[in-house]
Amino acid sequence: MAKIISVISGKGGVGKTTTVSNLGAALVKRGKNVIVIDGNITTPNLSLHLGIPFYPITLHDVLKRKTPIEAAIYEHSSGMKIIPASLSADAVKDIKIEKLEGALLNLLGRADVILIDSAAGLGREALTAMKIADEIIVVTNPDLPSVTDALRTIKLAEESGTKVSGVVINRVKGKKHELSISEIKSMLNVPILTIVPEDSSVPKSIKKRKPVIHHKPNSRASTAFKKLAAKILGEPFKEKKKKKKSWFERLTFWLR
Ligand SMILES: Nc1ncnc2c1ncn2[C@@H]1O[C@H](COP(=O)(O)OP(=O)(O)OP(=O)(O)O)[C@@H](O)[C@H]1O
Ligand SMILES: [Mg+2]
Repeated sequence: MAKIISVISGKGGVGKTTTVSNLGAALVKRGKNVIVIDGNITTPNLSLHLGIPFYPITLHDVLKRKTPIEAAIYEHSSGMKIIPASLSADAVKDIKIEKLEGALLNLLGRADVILIDSAAGLGREALTAMKIADEIIVVTNPDLPSVTDALRTIKLAEESGTKVSGVVINRVKGKKHELSISEIKSMLNVPILTIVPEDSSVPKSIKKRKPVIHHKPNSRASTAFKKLAAKILGEPFKEKKKKKKSWFERLTFWLR
């Protein structure tokens, strides 16, 4: 039976969609059958991150009409399955995101993990994603506004009895003005699942419409997302030691 994990943040733009596309791809690499769902029906962009912006049948059709959810499943080249949301601005009218809970029942036997990319804020979309999840992953950046919103999200989850697996701290630059990891840990009081550095490979991978773990598998961000997948599965993670460059490799690097 699939485990449903929703990725939520409170504050927008902190890296939820990036986390979903990369965690999904990293779980597939660990042999899991994964379905990622764009639960952000007002401003969807999971399918943009994954490079297939047009799908004939989307989650909107499932929620609006009687289309079975199985008809909206597409296979991505990474091996994960995606249920996209419609990119059309009109499609969002009269949508009841709350219907997602019932629709998901038909998917439980079809995957090991179902990841839901939530919308920013704590409106209907995020609250539904929280309600239907077995557990949530909270994404934050190391700044006061996003950590405060992450805290609000965690409190709401705790009040509604949803398990919080932990927090992903994304876009860490190591600057003095940032909140430190220990400050974030003591504010949120949940496990820190992974720390993703600010890494230009991420926007470059989005431009290429690929998860960064495929675009630059050995980048620092990729390593952090692979670590997250191992943590979620309770499996060990071995960080690849970077091979020391020979003097010849160093010379050719500088002469490039
Ligand atoms: N580790 C990182 N390093 C550099 N840039 C990053 C990193 N993570 C995310 N970004 C950039 O931040 C932007 C927002 O990321 P993303 O779309 O994943 O956020 P989101 O939380 O899903 O946003 P929204 O709330 O709008 O759905 C993207 O343009 C991405 O390139
Ligand atoms: Mg997003």
